[in-house]
Amino acid sequence: MNNWYNFFQKNTISTILYPYKQTDFSNPYNNSLLIYNFQHKEKSIDIYLSTSKDINLHDLELLCDAVGWVRRPFRKVKIAIEYSFLTVSLFCIQKNNQKQLIGFARATSDYAFNATIWDVVIHPEFQGKGLGKILMYKMIQYLRSADIITITLFSDPEVLSFYKSIGFIIDPDGVKGMFWYPR
Ligand SMILES: CC(C)(COP(=O)(O)OP(=O)(O)OC[C@H]1O[C@@H](n2cnc3c(N)ncnc32)[C@H](O)[C@@H]1OP(=O)(O)O)[C@@H](O)C(=O)NCCC(=O)NCCS
Repeated sequence: MNNWYNFFQKNTISTILYPYKQTDFSNPYNNSLLIYNFQHKEKSIDIYLSTSKDINLHDLELLCDAVGWVRRPFRKVKIAIEYSFLTVSLFCIQKNNQKQLIGFARATSDYAFNATIWDVVIHPEFQGKGLGKILMYKMIQYLRSADIITITLFSDPEVLSFYKSIGFIIDPDGVKGMFWYPR
């Protein structure tokens, strides 16, 4: 059984998680039911997963706004998504049948050895319920199914323990991420 499945079984007994096998994510299972009966604000809701890059940029901006991220130009976000190797979106359906984007992450890759995960976010109203962990496990699952060996990311200092809880480690050989910024 997958780790993330075990994790969820352990942590949210009333929730049913629907694992599914997907080896070719270039042909995505869009809008797959991920969690049935997720308890949210004393209601049961269903949570869906999509690997489609057809993402409503306004919805993504609202999600990023909700966690206080600095806004980025739509034009650039659109290009970043288009050229990402993988995007994973989590959403639920509101009463008015509107989709609400509640989680997102994407990865860039050289398509052979390495992938880097970016823009990991869960809407504040849905945080602390295991969704961030599931989102990350799904990212890892898809990247491993594409035979990507090394998965890296840049962690904000305050979320180090989140990534550590998923199995990410600070490089044991002391390799440091380095940055060049225009001055
Ligand atoms: C970081 C984030 C994606 C985590 O999502 P989440 O759904 O709240 O996380 P989960 O409920 O799956 O938590 C998984 C584990 O990480 C820990 N964790 C979650 N958020 C954390 C945080 N902000 N800081 C430290 N640990 C955190 C939890 O305690 C939990 O530990 P456990 O498995 O021992 O119980 C979410 O808080 C978020 O979107 N934050 C704002 C955006 C952000 O900072 N993104 C990362 C940029 S590098």
